Amino acid sequence: MAKELIDPKDDIRAYGADYVHFCLRLKKLSGIDLSSYKSRQMHRRLQNYRNRLGFSDFYTFSVALQKDEQKLKGLLDFITINVSEFFRNPEQWRILRESVLPTLVVYRSGQPVRVWSAGSSAGQEAYSLAISVLEAGGVPKVLGTDIDEASLKKARAGIYSSEEIKGVSKVYLTRYFEPHGDGYRVREILRRAVAFERGNLLTDEYPNDLDLAVCRNVLIYFTDQGKQRVLRGLADSLRRGGVLFTGATEPVFNPASYGLSQMHPFFYQRS
Ligand SMILES: C[S@@+](CC[C@H](N)C(=O)[O-])C[C@H]1O[C@@H](n2cnc3c(N)ncnc32)[C@H](O)[C@@H]1O
Repeated sequence: MAKELIDPKDDIRAYGADYVHFCLRLKKLSGIDLSSYKSRQMHRRLQNYRNRLGFSDFYTFSVALQKDEQKLKGLLDFITINVSEFFRNPEQWRILRESVLPTLVVYRSGQPVRVWSAGSSAGQEAYSLAISVLEAGGVPKVLGTDIDEASLKKARAGIYSSEEIKGVSKVYLTRYFEPHGDGYRVREILRRAVAFERGNLLTDEYPNDLDLAVCRNVLIYFTDQGKQRVLRGLADSLRRGGVLFTGATEPVFNPASYGLSQMHPFFYQRS
């Protein structure tokens, strides 16, 4: 089980007082509480990052962060690991399209299908969801939330390079994107279907009455306790019959304890 920053004395012993001080200062400056992230892995990554910037200890690093907004922004980008893709793990999106969405669309019969991309990064997942609902004949209403402002800004702009768009088929590219400079921009039909808001999965309230909650490649960074909190919230955010869609390496091991039952690998229905 991942160790958590529960007892400050343990953490001072394991990581040093300067790291514990750094975590507290980061929480004050950004609202990000590293105690819910796997701590050994996070400590190692942060140590490498700090060394790369030329700071020999976490105390001087945290003083620099307080004085320099750009440094703080750079660090937050690094912590939140916002790698994403359109239609990431295509086999799972095939299951979504063929076996999950048709029922959700019929249930809403012409009313918006309520979808949440929790940890939406730069918007690729939220727009992929809107496309999938449209292709299934539904009316998408997708909310993307993320803790990282820089990702949200890019998501709202909806502008992607040719490299970033590589998971999108030619048909979808023509239908849902327009050329923009060297890359593409999402068309109005997607823009209208998707909204982005800042939200911290570990502290903020969750939406409700959702048909589909999607949380992929986010849970992996959390401690077991953080993961359980988020899974409980995701399950509660669904209407009865609503579906949770998780990442390709993130099965829910005990779905029944959240009131969920497995439909397909990585898809769980609220019973
Ligand atoms: C690896 S990306 C996953 C993006 C997308 N879901 C996907 O699978 O392609 C992880 C995202 O989770 C966000 N994140 C990390 N901690 C978070 C938190 N506590 N609350 C909300 N989002 C968080 C990061 O900012 C990042 O954009």
